[in-house]
Amino acid sequence: MEKTLIIIKPDGVKRKLAGKIIGMIEDKGYTIEEIKMKRLSREELSIHYEAHKDKKFYPELLDYMSSGKCIIMVVSGVNVIKGMRKLIGSTDPLEAELGSIRGKYGNNKTFNIIHGSDSIESSQKEIGLFFKDKK
Ligand code: RTP
Ligand code: MG
Repeated sequence: MEKTLIIIKPDGVKRKLAGKIIGMIEDKGYTIEEIKMKRLSREELSIHYEAHKDKKFYPELLDYMSSGKCIIMVVSGVNVIKGMRKLIGSTDPLEAELGSIRGKYGNNKTFNIIHGSDSIESSQKEIGLFFKDKK
């Protein structure tokens, strides 16, 4: 059993996609272990996205992710890290499979609705960042 950190990004919340997205996660057989709604600070986001700090899109990414409330979840299941990445789809929604969350609801490479941890190491770091003591 694994855990992963999922964020419904501000565009997903504003577009009222949360119910559909949580339904897709539960339909897949995964379990929502923790959930909260919060506007993330630039400080938290700079830790969360520190791997991207030298990328051209980084300033826009922090503006976007701090532009409104996010829904932050810990999701558990067998191979859930890889499984959620597949359910989320490629970073660019134009390349994401049509049945995936970004493939169904996304249309922009920056404003792409949802985040999922990409490895065991990043899931532990991200769960520790947003849900202290619940790693
Ligand atoms: P995430 O970390 O949010 O789950 O997304 P990801 O792994 O699919 O993509 P990543 O390469 O980690 O990029 C993080 C987020 O930065 C924004 N981005 N914009 N304009 C661009 O070229 C660009 N590239 C990335 C997206 O919001 C992406 O999800
Ligand atoms: Mg990523």
